[in-house]
Order: sequence, then structure tokens, then C-alpha cells
Amino acid sequence: MLRRVVAQRYVTPLREGGSLPAIMEASDDGQYVVKFRGAGHGTRSLVAELAVGELARRLELTVPELVLVEIDAGMGRADPDPEIHELVTASIGTNVGLDYLPGSVTFDPVQDAQPDAATAARIVWLDSLMVNIDRSSRNPNLLTWHGNLWLIDHGAALYVHSNWKRPEESARQRFEMIADHVLLARAGSIVDADAQLAPLVTRELLEDVFALVPDDLLDEDVLGRTPADVRAGYVTWLLDRLDARDEWVGEAETACAALGAGA
Ligand SMILES: Nc1ncnc2c1ncn2[C@@H]1O[C@H](COP(=O)(O)OP(=O)(O)OP(=O)(O)O)[C@@H](O)[C@H]1O
Ligand SMILES: [Mg+2]
Repeated sequence: MLRRVVAQRYVTPLREGGSLPAIMEASDDGQYVVKFRGAGHGTRSLVAELAVGELARRLELTVPELVLVEIDAGMGRADPDPEIHELVTASIGTNVGLDYLPGSVTFDPVQDAQPDAATAARIVWLDSLMVNIDRSSRNPNLLTWHGNLWLIDHGAALYVHSNWKRPEESARQRFEMIADHVLLARAGSIVDADAQLAPLVTRELLEDVFALVPDDLLDEDVLGRTPADVRAGYVTWLLDRLDARDEWVGEAETACAALGAGA
């Protein structure tokens, strides 16, 4: 189960974020980076945030704690900034929060301590599976904090859900943008990462992960299916993608070798 907290105060916007995230204080006195259901990308990007983050954690990658953030009616009503007022008012209900890591800094691939080659390869593998375009050197979406690398911002992954068009086909598609991955140059063998991780990503694990996604984040389905059907759709799509992994693992390995990394 994910913890559920109630938003108490809008602290500050994170202006650099395209999805208008903000730091909010919640009922447990914690501060969270909140991804708003009313932010324009809709609840599907919140589903990706939860599912990719939670799968990463289960594969022993480091992710800030994910929580569900309840925004009650009335919240934001008093905010003098009309943009914030509108966003918060449009986000009444369940939203997604990541534990705020105070003092963390964006990972700098040139200056910062590098992750070990096996960890970098595991992150490249996960992003290829989830079709996460948002891990480039321009926008790494990795934070350095307490000497560790933390994975954040998975809202752009699982793009298939924008329209669920020909899912069997899209599951098998290559992912050329992996060539821009910020960790590719320091990744070890993607084939080895695959041999390690693919057996762990079972139907049961995927069902567990999607069971954490509450119904009210799944009710914007473009095909009008029930939340249970949508969860099953994600699980099937990811199992199909795993089935086709020779394709995308090979592609990542080739991109890695082109940079003189891998193996
Ligand atoms: N858990 C966290 N702790 C501390 N800072 C965070 C955390 N999550 C996000 N941030 C900061 O807020 C910024 C925006 O967050 P995030 O990348 O998740 O939003 P986004 O709108 O999806 O961003 P973009 O589309 O610009 O990549 C991050 O680049 C990072 O600097
Ligand atoms: Mg980001």
C-alpha cells in the first residue's frame, strides 16, 4: 500500500518543471513534490509516475518515497496567484507525491560522482522497458543526495497510454531515444542487466505494482474501460514488451557500444 497524506499547504512551485509540480506540506508534517492531476498532462502521467517509480524501487533502484496526496475542496482557494489557484482547484482528489529531498541537486554527468557501471546499465534497461524519454543529459531527472543517485520524474514514460493505439505493436517497438540517455556512456552491459532484471519482472510483480494505482487515477481512460481493465492493459503491454526485449535490449547495447561503453 502507498501511504495517503492530506495536503495542508502549498509551499512553493518548482518552476523548472514542465508539469507544474510544487512542494506541499502534508498532514504528516512531511514535504512532498506533488504532481497534480489537474496539470494538463492529466492523470495518465501520474500513473506513469507511480508505476515506474514503484517498479524501480522493487528492482532496488533508489527512488524517493511515493505517496498519494489528497487535495480537499477549499485548498488553494485563498492563493493570490491565479495560476496556482486554478491548478490546485483542478486537482481536488488524489494526486501523487514524492518525498521532497531537501538539499538534493540535479545530477551532473560531468562533475558528479558516477554511478557504478552495473547500476547505470540497470537504469538504462528500466527506461527502455518503460519507454522513458526523460533521462537525457539536458534533463537527467536524477538527483544527487546523501551520496546516492535518486530517480525522479517518470511522468513521460508509458506513452502508449496517450491513446492505447495498437498496443501489441507499440510494445514491440524499438526505442531510438535511448541513444540520448544520460547514463549510457557509463553503463555496463545492458545484456547483463537484462539477464538480471527481466526474470524479476513477472506478471505477479507487475500486477502488484499496478494494484497500487488507485481507481480515481485510472478513470480517464481514453477507451472508457474500467480501472481493472486499464490495470490489466498495462500489465499485458509490459509483458509483451518484455517478450520483445531482444529488440530493445540489443538496441540499447548497440547505442552503448557506439559510445565506447557497455560490456
Ligand atoms: N523529490 C524531490 N526532491 C527534491 N527536488 C525534487 C524532487 N522531485 C523533483 N525535484 C525538483 O523539481 C524539478 C521538477 O520536478 P520533475 O522533474 O519531477 O517535474 P517535471 O515537471 O516533470 O519536469 P520536466 O518536465 O521539466 O522534466 C526537478 O528537476 C528537481 O529539481
Ligand atoms: Mg523533470
